Amino acid sequence: SLPDKVTIIEVGPRDGLQNEKNTIPTETKIQFIKALKQANIQEMELTSFVSPKWVPQMKDADDVIEQCLDNTRNFVLAPNQKGVERFYQSGANDIAVFVGVSNTFNKKNINKSTDESLEELKPLIADLKQNGKFVRACVSTAFYCPYEGKVPAEKTIKLCEAFAHCGVNELSVADTVGMATPKEVYQLFNSLKSIQPKNILITGHFHNTRGTALANIYASLEAGVDRFDSSAGGLGGCPFAPGATGNVATEDVLYMLHGMGIDTGVDIEKVIHAVDVVAPFMTRTLDSKLYHLQKAT
Ligand code: HMG
Ligand code: MG
Repeated sequence: SLPDKVTIIEVGPRDGLQNEKNTIPTETKIQFIKALKQANIQEMELTSFVSPKWVPQMKDADDVIEQCLDNTRNFVLAPNQKGVERFYQSGANDIAVFVGVSNTFNKKNINKSTDESLEELKPLIADLKQNGKFVRACVSTAFYCPYEGKVPAEKTIKLCEAFAHCGVNELSVADTVGMATPKEVYQLFNSLKSIQPKNILITGHFHNTRGTALANIYASLEAGVDRFDSSAGGLGGCPFAPGATGNVATEDVLYMLHGMGIDTGVDIEKVIHAVDVVAPFMTRTLDSKLYHLQKAT
């Protein structure tokens, strides 16, 4: 049976903006985040601690965090030791580390092999846990890699198990370039049910590049997944994954879930108001269906 409650993790301020060519004013980012909080988003990726040379859009991370921390779950991404050091200094409580299952992708994204990244992160995660931090592990290219093609499920499961063994609180399993289809999504999430410890949170992260994201969410629900990453307006994409486009739009996910009687606690109209804050700054057409429908009527 399908879950009757789902948690939405809003990734618009991070995944949504990181690939945008225009420099978006820090004030606008803060206004966007606050508008999303007004919509009752309880978990959100605010920004990332990455190299300003690699991802210039995220260089104002400290200023964004300073204005936006509150008593909800506010994630900041960090891929390495330097990122984790910046995290400790920021006063944030919730961190998201990220590694690609595909070696080629991980090298393009963070300039290390998958194993090198994992080895660097292991002691850092142990420390973070000792300091009472919430650790989310984003597992990229969990289904397909833009460089290597189909990623074997066993490799994804192995990386998920390695992170689980490190004591992370959550695995966010990502279809980075939106190539996955529902049957393989169902199968992978069904296999991930047996991951230990049992209380580890499992989240689906779908990009809608080929229009399969909502179908993949439905397939995940059938496999018992009740947490999804999504991006207001359907903004998003990883700058180091060629062809990557937006995350599935939060408002489109909400429409589907609410229509199925699944509660999220999030207000669709207020999410659409939040999109209005950043829409004028976007150089790409927003992928959201509901947003365009609202603007047309
Ligand atoms: P590198 O050049 O190999 O780094 O980049 P390095 O260790 O050789 O250091 C070079 C310089 O970068 C040094 O500065 C470091 O201090 C600095 P310098 O001495 O030259 O002045 N540096 C940093 N500065 C700020 N923050 C840091 C940091 N680390 C080193 N954390 C690095 C390695 C990881 C930094 C680089 O590759 C990078 O920043 N990559 C960012 C990748 C990224 O942000 N990708 C998008 C997010 S992941 C994603 O979108 C996927 C996801 O949505 C799930 C999915 O859909 O799959 C999560
Ligand atoms: Mg992503």
